[in-house]
Amino acid sequence: MPKDTTNHPDLLAGAHVDAAAYDRMYAESIENPEAFWAEHGKRIDWIKPFTKVKDTSFAHDDVHVRWFEDGTLNVAENCIDRHLATKADQTAIIFEPDSPEEEAQHITYKQLHEEVGRFANVLKELGVQKGDRVVLYLPMIPEAAYAMLACARLGAIHSVVFAGFSPDALASRVNDSQAKVVVTSDGAPRGGRITELKDNVNKALLHCDDHVKCLVVKRTGQQVAWVADRDVWYDDIAANVSTFCHAAEVGAEDPLFILYTSGSTGKPKGVVHSSGGYLAYAAMTHQYTFDYHDGDVFWCTADVGWVTGHSYIVYGPLANGATTLMFEGVPTYPDAGRFWAVCEKHKVTQFYTAPTAIRLLMGQSDEFVTKYDLSSLKLLGSVGEPINPEAWNWYNEVVGKGKCPIVDTWWQTETGGHLITPLPGATALKPGSATKPFFGVQPVLLDATSGEEIHETEAEGVLCMKDSWPGQMRTLWGDPDRFVQAYFSDYKGYYFTGDGCRRDADGYYWITGRVDDVINVSGHRMGTAEVESALVAHDAVSEAAVVGYPHELKGQGIYCYVTLMSDETPSDELVKELQTWVRKEIGPIAKPDVIQFAPGLPKTRSGKIMRRILRKIAENDFGSLGDTSTLADPSVVDDLIANRANK
Ligand code: WT7
Repeated sequence: MPKDTTNHPDLLAGAHVDAAAYDRMYAESIENPEAFWAEHGKRIDWIKPFTKVKDTSFAHDDVHVRWFEDGTLNVAENCIDRHLATKADQTAIIFEPDSPEEEAQHITYKQLHEEVGRFANVLKELGVQKGDRVVLYLPMIPEAAYAMLACARLGAIHSVVFAGFSPDALASRVNDSQAKVVVTSDGAPRGGRITELKDNVNKALLHCDDHVKCLVVKRTGQQVAWVADRDVWYDDIAANVSTFCHAAEVGAEDPLFILYTSGSTGKPKGVVHSSGGYLAYAAMTHQYTFDYHDGDVFWCTADVGWVTGHSYIVYGPLANGATTLMFEGVPTYPDAGRFWAVCEKHKVTQFYTAPTAIRLLMGQSDEFVTKYDLSSLKLLGSVGEPINPEAWNWYNEVVGKGKCPIVDTWWQTETGGHLITPLPGATALKPGSATKPFFGVQPVLLDATSGEEIHETEAEGVLCMKDSWPGQMRTLWGDPDRFVQAYFSDYKGYYFTGDGCRRDADGYYWITGRVDDVINVSGHRMGTAEVESALVAHDAVSEAAVVGYPHELKGQGIYCYVTLMSDETPSDELVKELQTWVRKEIGPIAKPDVIQFAPGLPKTRSGKIMRRILRKIAENDFGSLGDTSTLADPSVVDDLIANRANK
């Protein structure tokens, strides 16, 4: 018998829920969602309490999602003010800078209240009002959290753009959201290097409306190019404003933020999240999934540029009055022990990261882990992609010393919080499975072709949700039709996740990966169409098709088939040039791993590229190419195989 390191419930005596409580609460949440969520809606302080709990429909011709809709609240008050009576001097945010030489900061709830009030007043000076959009393009510094909460305080809508995105990507988000202000910093230190954030904003704003203002927080102190009338230093305005800012009363359904994510077309989708339902769900999942208790030091290593950072660095933990850690750096700087050094230094109790980081670190000597005292750790978390058993075991044994439950949390930008996840103390774990649904969540597996629900317990199909949960996205910014089209049209009556999934005999869910044209690179979501449009924007390229392939560290790598203009010749230089080009067009995370020049792409007679075949070739799996007889020119496949770049 193998040693059972997966059955950790007994190791978490005192957890919020045990197996029996999970079963009981889950049953309640499904049988009587109104009563269940009326109760859990109370974890928020409402200005005007809600009387309606749930008004949701996934019917194709009448999709709507509303929770607690007549309640009013302020999200920043919930994350700050309501903790002041008991936790004014407790640390709200621990800031660990990129360089271990620079001192960490501990920001108390009282200080957070002042900083956010001041930031809100600065935004107000720039004309930001309730409902306005503010783009945040910042390093992982406390000001990123202040800015998010300052928007929430005013009832303005923030849209955080990951600081690794290019000026073009930034410009398209500023334009799509029609933002009034872009908040940035002079530079962003990361892994000992500096990203020129202000410089990127300067380039981006050349493509935006002249009225967009740029608010600059000082981080590196470097010289920056300045546009008078448009650019303002945060410190200059902050010096003259009060630290108190009245909190706006917003409706539960008023948007809290927009977050752009990749879809199956070239244009990113502006996912809109609500104020009330989102906050309640982020707080509740943070409490149960991580078994959060007062006094814990919670560390989610994500960037606030992704939804994980929104829900589990800022909103969930702060709504619960937790101490949350913000880390500016990377796992390997100054060396591969940084995560564990930080865990020891700040006595982290829950640690939440991505499989790609775990795989990267497990490739280094275990000494980078074992030389630190990790006895404060109670729980480990994983998010972003399926975690392979080798990585799970290493995480469990070397980091968790076999005594920390691992919560493998499945969710999406669109879901706002965890949908399928173990609850420590309640769920027996199986490495590689996100296990069971959270309260109120009803996953179903559908047959991909018929769209019929599969009722057998053991099954495989596309993963959909039968009913809404409070953290669900409400719409796509400026494009309600695309919202219905993307999520409720392929399988009518359901929310379609885009993932494939298997359910085992115990009713456990195992995510098998995306079934659409989205790939998952190091836990970052990437539309293959986005990379394709960047490639064809290059003068030498006539056509491009992009697919994912298994990559040891990144989970999936980016494999590009490129057809050149007739007067161009393939060369190694051109490969490099195209890699640099895509990196510049979208950002470093989109840099192609493999470029294969292809004189022709496999197309049907109607001109549709058969990606299934391209995926197989990229995976080096030629035995199962399937039927190629419907191709307009079947011989292109032989050429692609003979010249495959990924040998
Ligand atoms: C896609 C969502 C929300 C977290 C960050 C990613 C994949 C996410 C898991 C997991 C297997 C996972 C799915 C999902 N994914 N978590 N625990 N196991 N796959 O958010 O960028 O919106 O991507 O990430 O494919 O659809 P995202």
